[in-house]
Amino acid sequence: MAVMEKTRLLSFLEAQSQDAWLRALDEIDASIHAVDREATRVWFAFWPLELHDALAASPDSKEIARLMDLEGNWRLEEQLDSSVSFLYGAHYWARVKNAVLAEAEATTGSLAATIRSIAQKVSAAERVDPSLVLGIAAVGLMMFRQVGFERLERSKNTTAAPPLLPQDPAKVLARRERKSADGLFTFLKGVNRKWDVRWEEKRTAGMFRAINGQDIAMAGGDTGSDYRHLDYRRPAGPVPVECRVGSCGYCWIGLLAGRENLSPITSFERERLRYFGYDTVNPPEDTNPMIRLACQSQCQGDVTLAISPWNGELDRRHDEGRKKLGTA
Ligand code: FES
Repeated sequence: MAVMEKTRLLSFLEAQSQDAWLRALDEIDASIHAVDREATRVWFAFWPLELHDALAASPDSKEIARLMDLEGNWRLEEQLDSSVSFLYGAHYWARVKNAVLAEAEATTGSLAATIRSIAQKVSAAERVDPSLVLGIAAVGLMMFRQVGFERLERSKNTTAAPPLLPQDPAKVLARRERKSADGLFTFLKGVNRKWDVRWEEKRTAGMFRAINGQDIAMAGGDTGSDYRHLDYRRPAGPVPVECRVGSCGYCWIGLLAGRENLSPITSFERERLRYFGYDTVNPPEDTNPMIRLACQSQCQGDVTLAISPWNGELDRRHDEGRKKLGTA
């Protein structure tokens, strides 16, 4: 199709800062079904506006990626349908994309009201409770903001990359809350107890076990499996690793459930998250935030997590890099 003018909705979304998006998430948070409440914020952490805007503003995206030390796959436009598949709302992904496109010229109220409006349309068409599609509606709008009308339209009928979570959200929540065998018999196991770490909860095999007190990166490496066929950053276990001491930022994860079962965040890890630019959704006072470095997070119970497909240092070299590239 011909190159389109910027739509009214897109212009509105482009006027919203990262903080405005986070405030809108705060506004709708209590209305998002528990199955996607954490997952929605994790998606927003994995795809921050800062990353998109730095790449989009640069005349040389390869150079800015080098300056930001980006590794893995940081291009959202290449993974529209796989980036959402850890959300329950992914079941309705094609409908969400179509609803966003259908509203491309609509006049809008607040950002939170716009998200609710998309969710209402999807919920009416799919006959599901709006709470189940509110998080994915927010994701759909942010996706639109980042990839634009034409890219979203090209994928409007594709569904989220399978496998997806079970259709019954109660089953998903029950599985997250189910205690591992060792969790049930902790008193018999003493220091040898182990916990379940579900790193891809859609698949039964997407799990490894962590000895009590072991960090998640180390426990993943103990599986002895090589996951480089999925991602070259995963030479030892499913979690990307390099330094194992909080220096490289490879191992950042988003907690979908059980974040209270990890060791509380230290001031060192909090500073590292800020340095890498991964802490956009972490409230500063939260001792068990949803974004962590796996090598700094010791398991003290069962957890369910998602793994970022990229890593980088958004808060270190980009200021210097932007100056150099004339995009500051
Ligand atoms: S492996 Fe380098 S920060 Fe965790």
